[in-house]
Amino acid sequence: MLTDQNIIDAARLIRAGGLVAFPTETVYGLGANALDAVAVAGVFEVKGRPRFDPLIVHLAEPEQLMDVARSVPPLAMKLIDKFWPGPLSLVLDKQPSIPDIVTAGLSSVAIRCPAHDLARRLIQAAGVPIAAPSANRFGAVSPTTARHVVEQFGDEVPLVLDGGPCRIGLESTVVSFVDSPDGRPTLLRPGGITREEIERVVGTLKIRMHEEAQPASPGQLLRHYAPETRLVLSADGFCTGSSAVKVGLLSFQRPTSPAGFAAIEVLSEQGCLREAAANLFAALRRLDAQGLDFIVARPVPEVDLGHAIMDRLRRAAAR
Ligand code: TXA
Ligand code: MG
Repeated sequence: MLTDQNIIDAARLIRAGGLVAFPTETVYGLGANALDAVAVAGVFEVKGRPRFDPLIVHLAEPEQLMDVARSVPPLAMKLIDKFWPGPLSLVLDKQPSIPDIVTAGLSSVAIRCPAHDLARRLIQAAGVPIAAPSANRFGAVSPTTARHVVEQFGDEVPLVLDGGPCRIGLESTVVSFVDSPDGRPTLLRPGGITREEIERVVGTLKIRMHEEAQPASPGQLLRHYAPETRLVLSADGFCTGSSAVKVGLLSFQRPTSPAGFAAIEVLSEQGCLREAAANLFAALRRLDAQGLDFIVARPVPEVDLGHAIMDRLRRAAAR
């Protein structure tokens, strides 16, 4: 069990310019003091993340927003009132105190207040906002348990706060309020809050995704969230023509014809998209660990969280 002392030690490390991996309701983050450019550089190094890919700044309380954002449009305020703390990141004009490395030189910054007690206690105790990407190497599958982080980074990330498995299991939804002449917000990454939920509050979103060159949000890179094993997204049976080929199956519900697969992961026996989202990354990792020749992923229904799940599967399948 984590003690208050663990949190105090982690907060001290953050203040001293170190890195701490910590749980959120979406995925584990690799955090550094968002106001310390050198500490943030350490995050990019450890992750192997390109410097053009900006980070999300995490707050303990919505009230800290103005320390990070220069201005907040009324529609953004509505989303904050409704969804914070929670899995929604808003891209807003940044305060000059946020170093360029955090935002990859952009004049905007992505901000969220996570709905996870440990994360908020850590940020509170550190007394500074924490910049954190998902705690995985760039392009790889995001971590939803502390063990995933340890397996990926070993000693390179000496402090991992273990808060158990992440409740949501998919990254936050990213909505931008910048670069929009008509003021309408833009969906940059589907995630833990569905597009439908957001549109009920602010009306129709503009959509900007699947850009390959010059992505507005590098979660938009075509290949991302990918296991090492080749992954194919396919609705029907998969014939390899050879029993020597080991094929894994990632299925939404239990498959009616499981024959021929060397390993099967079922995301939700009940067909529940929330459960499927929470299981997705761990299931991909388990299949990836089995020395398969490739993985066949079945599509999930594209409603609610199904959009975000399919977004991750399409990027994992991109070559
Ligand atoms: O759920 C999450 O959001 C997790 C947890 C740890 O909070 N974090 C996360 O961070 O997924 P990361 O770095 O893996 O993804 C951040 C996404 C990227 O797609 C990045 O391009 C986008 O947010 N982003 C960050 N700042 C941006 C900005 N100023 N403009 C546009 N996109 C931005
Ligand atoms: Mg990531």
